[in-house]
Amino acid sequence: MTLVENILKLKKEKKAIILAHNYQRPEIQDIADYVGDSIELCMRATEEKDAKLIAFSAVDFMAESAAILNPDKKVLLPSLGARCPMAQMLPAEEVRLWKRQHPNVPVVLYVNTLAEAKAECDICCTSANAVKVVSSLEADTLLFGPDHNLAWHVEQKTGKKLIPIPKKGFCPTHLLFLKEDILLAKEEYPDAVIAVHPECTSDVQLVADFIGSTSQICRYAKESAKRKYIIGTEIGIIHRLEKENPRKKFLPAYEGAVCPNMKLNTLERVYLSLKEERYPVTVPKSVASKARKALEKMISIVSMK
Ligand code: 13P
Ligand code: SF4
Repeated sequence: MTLVENILKLKKEKKAIILAHNYQRPEIQDIADYVGDSIELCMRATEEKDAKLIAFSAVDFMAESAAILNPDKKVLLPSLGARCPMAQMLPAEEVRLWKRQHPNVPVVLYVNTLAEAKAECDICCTSANAVKVVSSLEADTLLFGPDHNLAWHVEQKTGKKLIPIPKKGFCPTHLLFLKEDILLAKEEYPDAVIAVHPECTSDVQLVADFIGSTSQICRYAKESAKRKYIIGTEIGIIHRLEKENPRKKFLPAYEGAVCPNMKLNTLERVYLSLKEERYPVTVPKSVASKARKALEKMISIVSMK
């Protein structure tokens, strides 16, 4: 039997599902039950009522959020080392420090944080809903972290003041996109649409035609009549874009924009994860219950029309 056949067999035997982020290797996306952005994957984990086992092919904070929202399911992260460096930039202790310095200022945290930090915030957000979440709050000044580029994006859209915590949290992969490279690509393909993730720098966001989460970029490309796109997010997304839009052309704004953490997941590791049920994501109950409240508040706002 091939590796893929073995994975499918195990999946059936164990009533498991495979959820894969849009940045996963093509071969993982192709066998996944669902491919999506961070919020979609967590919501899908909840919707899959019959699944008791979830191989969550992504990075630590995403699998952790799914585990927090689904305490009755076993969530597995196929590679222990798949940790998002941005999430490491805002330890819970630092959130507490900022809260002490700014009492009564609400704290909004990007899901790209670890559970302990989430437990300290008022509400979570993802790149797909950050504008909606921040707009829904009464306050005009908020603490927001850890991504200062997403904070900048939300400030532009809402007119509110976001105090970035830490001062300059960032995604090392999205920092690789340069405005100059994008403008050069645009010179070569003047009719191309520039679509980027809000984790890109403000310079890059300012030259973009569309800014959105990974799945929002996919939706935009599907619905738009335009034929060519310059894509400013991790290159794993190109596979999904090409698969869903075989007649359109997608150019990575920078070929080297790889998230090494996302790429730790391989077919072999997904197979071993299902076989050995490794590595289960666990969050202490006291932390999980607080973090769950922040995640559920976000979900309730997203679900509002
Ligand atoms: P999305 O929610 O847009 O998938 O983003 C997650 C992420 O880590 C982007 O780098
Ligand atoms: Fe974290 Fe950036 Fe990788 Fe997304 S692309 S998981 S933010 S390091």
